[in-house]
Amino acid sequence: MENEFDELQESILEDARRLYSETTIEHFMNPRNLGPMDAYDGFAEFHGPCGDTIGIWLNVDGGILTDVRFTTDGCGTSIASGSMVTELAKGKDIDSANDITQDDILTALGGFPREKEHCALLAVMSLRKAIKSLKDVL
Ligand code: FES
Repeated sequence: MENEFDELQESILEDARRLYSETTIEHFMNPRNLGPMDAYDGFAEFHGPCGDTIGIWLNVDGGILTDVRFTTDGCGTSIASGSMVTELAKGKDIDSANDITQDDILTALGGFPREKEHCALLAVMSLRKAIKSLKDVL
């Protein structure tokens, strides 16, 4: 049974490798900074036209994003995008984090098939909305 599971998993991964980079698959399988924060300075959710949502939590200290976390109910590429956007934003000052683009995420993840590129935009819009919510605490 364990063998069958391993074979199935390998065949799913083989299919995924035809469409996605190793970096995307790795972030999907081991997302960074996943899960909500109990105590945070900023939070927002953005709902994409696809019906999926990414939530972003932020902590800020001296204008630097010291912690960035995410959740999503979306697809595998939204998990990889949420993971990458938190990695790119963490440690940046607020303005630089706000300048992160869909292209930055796609480049960092090695590109998506065109029909999945909007998942990276969802991550960016969620981050920008969360940064906007910081105005209340700055
Ligand atoms: Fe909706 Fe990827 S986030 S399809």
